[in-house]
Amino acid sequence: MKVDGTPYRSIWLAEDGHTVRIIDQTKLPHNFETVDLFTAKDAAVAIRDMLVRGAPLIGATGAYGLALAMRTDPSTDNLELAFKTLFDTRPTASNLAWALNDVRQVLEPLPESEREAAAYKRAGEICEDDVATCRAIGEHGADVIRNLWEEKGRPDRINVLTHCNAGWLATVDWGTALSAIYVAHENGIPVHVWADETRPRNQGASLTAWELGKHGVPHTVIVDNAGGHLMQHGEVDLCIVGTDRTTAAGDVCNKIGTYLKALAAHDNSVPFYVALPHSTIDWDIHDGIRDVPIETRAATEITHISGKAENGEVVTVQVTPDETEALNVAFDVTPARYVTGLVTERGVCDASAEGLCSLYPERAA
Ligand code: MRU
Repeated sequence: MKVDGTPYRSIWLAEDGHTVRIIDQTKLPHNFETVDLFTAKDAAVAIRDMLVRGAPLIGATGAYGLALAMRTDPSTDNLELAFKTLFDTRPTASNLAWALNDVRQVLEPLPESEREAAAYKRAGEICEDDVATCRAIGEHGADVIRNLWEEKGRPDRINVLTHCNAGWLATVDWGTALSAIYVAHENGIPVHVWADETRPRNQGASLTAWELGKHGVPHTVIVDNAGGHLMQHGEVDLCIVGTDRTTAAGDVCNKIGTYLKALAAHDNSVPFYVALPHSTIDWDIHDGIRDVPIETRAATEITHISGKAENGEVVTVQVTPDETEALNVAFDVTPARYVTGLVTERGVCDASAEGLCSLYPERAA
């Protein structure tokens, strides 16, 4: 996608062909800065501290992290060490484990002399696959938006509510939920996005608003608690969000607060879609509430908030009393029964084991 006319991806290789370059998402929306990753440890820090975030992008960064590790020491011991260091950064999104396992499987049987090149090749393929997958999700998701728009008699504006950031910044390009919006916008459907601010890290207010703005998609930021009210007043035509882990039974784990949106959507008969690539499906888990590991992050993400001061400086301030404790649970699980449909690169299906198996018959067993 473009930033001020220049096409960008969220991760790429620098001119030397091996340094990994990312956009530092902790600096957005006020500053656009790139950061170079030279080692697996750099990649792990970038994931843990959320310079990169979003399920598919942390998978891609993990894959390149293994490639960086193979550059300095292609031994099996170092492969295992880098795998563990990267794996331990963030527990909830399946894409990280998926990408790390994928690259490790490619490297393990190879002689050490071939591992660096093979790791870069595979990481590059994972990124290309992500771009094609996300574009396909966008096509299918845009059909959902178009159909609803047609059903409603082609109104001047179709309002889509989204939570967190499931845009190109969360993937390598295009995004998942936002890909549907970009393709619909590209196809002339008058989409307007309600972007939940998404406390505590404000991925909606800072990242979704930024990338939609850069692409010229009409949008309005709302506080996380406004969605229910807007739905009651007919101001939301559909919700579409991403997911960090989808169970084999169709439960979806996504940024904290997603579940409450799904409940409000259910109560107001607003369709609630979830967009995801194949790499987000955890075929080994059926009960999302019981089995998805939920990340807990630092309390300071709640007690403090950053923003641009009047003098243009980006500052961090404390919003809670000095001694107040905060619990920062980063994700929640929306049971499949509240999900109208899963939008994947292979099409749209019911949020159920049967639905997923109809699109991925090779996993049916
Ligand atoms: O904590 P984050 O910012 O990595 O969480 C990201 C999300 O929850 C996204 O909605 C998600 O990864 C889904 S789609 C790309």
